[in-house]
Amino acid sequence: MEKIRSFNDNIDIKNKRVILRSDFNVPIINDVIQDKTRINLSIPFIQNLLKKQAKVLLISHLGRPKNDQDSNFSLKPVYEYLKKKIENKVYFFSEKITNKTKDKLSFIKNGEIIFFENIRLNKGEIKNDENLAKDLSSLCEVYINDAFSCAHRKQTSIHKITKYVKNSYAGPLFMNEIHSIDMVLNNKKSPTTCIIGGSKISTKLGVINSLINKVDNLIIVGAMANNFIKFKGNKVGKSLVESGSEKIVQKIYNNLDRGNCKIVTPFDFVVSSSTDGEATLKDLNEVSENEIILDIGPKTIERISNIIDISKTVLWNGPAGYFENKNFSNGTISLAKKISNITSKNSLISIVGGGDTISCIKNYKLNVNFTHLSTAGGAFLEYIEGKNLPGIEVLK
Ligand code: 3PG
Repeated sequence: MEKIRSFNDNIDIKNKRVILRSDFNVPIINDVIQDKTRINLSIPFIQNLLKKQAKVLLISHLGRPKNDQDSNFSLKPVYEYLKKKIENKVYFFSEKITNKTKDKLSFIKNGEIIFFENIRLNKGEIKNDENLAKDLSSLCEVYINDAFSCAHRKQTSIHKITKYVKNSYAGPLFMNEIHSIDMVLNNKKSPTTCIIGGSKISTKLGVINSLINKVDNLIIVGAMANNFIKFKGNKVGKSLVESGSEKIVQKIYNNLDRGNCKIVTPFDFVVSSSTDGEATLKDLNEVSENEIILDIGPKTIERISNIIDISKTVLWNGPAGYFENKNFSNGTISLAKKISNITSKNSLISIVGGGDTISCIKNYKLNVNFTHLSTAGGAFLEYIEGKNLPGIEVLK
């Protein structure tokens, strides 16, 4: 495999303007950060750059703003948090990035940070726009991407910017993710089990079809499982189901016929009439019209636990239910504890990933142990699928 250019201590960044692309895409409700894991993990490297007397320009996205004025997606709370955690001077730059931005930022001194507002509030970001790439690159002499979790996005601050910044590198968190995932994949032992949660099946079709050929058990949980449950002719009430998913699920089952992989989907559930409601247990086909499936039930948990018991490798990405309400958190918490427990007994290699999965683990203060805990969701899945991720390719 071609080598990724990674940042190291011999690269001189003193007096230099360094763009650091981080992933501060964290859950924020009413300006309160719900899970700080991604930010906290980024801090030591930021401090390292400051110690080396660089001028740090911090860039991240947050969520998926509807337009460039969408104030629901401001990174201000993250800035406020960082300002408290870092002793050095941190400025906030809320304007759009243009060819005038460079002059406006000339005040920055060595060992200081300019924290940019959500990069996706710039129209060109998700289009991987050439002009935005030129404007962004004009701000820096060195570019470091430490956001492995965004490496699957062909967007300006991840991809096109590297066309204009010769000194582009992957940061330490980025490299650590790749090394850890590679280590697990290269040493993976059978039986291998992959547990996939989350909501959108269409975005995960590629990874599911690819995993069918690589793993022994594929367990589908979370809202994504509703598509399978409905496909098999069972009632799902008001649960989230993606339109057109029948074709996708059919395709998955067709591909399954060619391999040895078993697909396991939930067969009992925790339901309610709303996400802030109380929990009721239901078996397959007992879900009524006004109910939403919000977690996997105890029988499904037991079945999955039995599969984990006989697995040698487990890859898990995406929660099993709507863990934000504790009434629907048991599935995700039980999976986390089970995988951790067997990993600790040294009989299982485990990689657990995804922003939501980590949020659940942190919010419920679970004391868990995995071979590798990845902060990446979609990027992690595409990487294990064996895809070339645009954010990695440009750093080779
Ligand atoms: C993530 O949370 O997986 C990354 O930050 C990427 O976010 P995105 O799916 O909005 O591109």
